[in-house]
Amino acid sequence: MNNDIEKVLISEEEIKQKCQELGERLTKEYEGKFPLAVGVLKGAMPFMSDILRAMDTHLEMDFMDVSSYGGETRSSGEVKIVKDLDTKVEGRDLLIIEDIIDSGLTLSYLVDLFKYRKANSIKIVTLLDKPEGRKVDIKADVVGFHVPNEFVVGYGLDYKERYRNLPYVGVLKPKIYGGE
Ligand code: XMP
Ligand code: MG
Repeated sequence: MNNDIEKVLISEEEIKQKCQELGERLTKEYEGKFPLAVGVLKGAMPFMSDILRAMDTHLEMDFMDVSSYGGETRSSGEVKIVKDLDTKVEGRDLLIIEDIIDSGLTLSYLVDLFKYRKANSIKIVTLLDKPEGRKVDIKADVVGFHVPNEFVVGYGLDYKERYRNLPYVGVLKPKIYGGE
């Protein structure tokens, strides 16, 4: 285990099983369709890669980079587009893929944007849900795991751009944040 990690919340094995299970479920839900999978960079990258490979359906991939966090662990409450999609959204069945829903600000911004762009349907799949962090009312259609109101890292999630490559989700030792 990485030396900066205090505890593992969700193991590599649990994530693998969950991706398989959710991938099979989404395969059924999108049968006969050609969804546009929208990965929210950078955090959703590992999850997107695993869940889409568990989906046995034709689909298209694109990426969006929005930021609502600086280098800090608290939301600034602002969402801005860093990288937009290359694909036209109008008439498409969108599957938004996220690493975590915390305040919900990022996703509610994206859902509004894609509605404005006339998507045919919008579904949200998130690896993690932190319901206690919610500031706006938004729910994912598909949730991997619920996590407590703690800052988590790994499997896409970072602290100051580190730890995204850990194969599990965990909590950092307080000393890493300069606490103790
Ligand atoms: P909101 O608050 O808009 O958050 O729902 C969405 C984005 O915030 C980041 N986020 C976290 N990143 N550990 C992280 O590494 C966390 O515990 C955490 N909570 C929120 C994340 O990028 C997410 O897409
Ligand atoms: Mg994110």
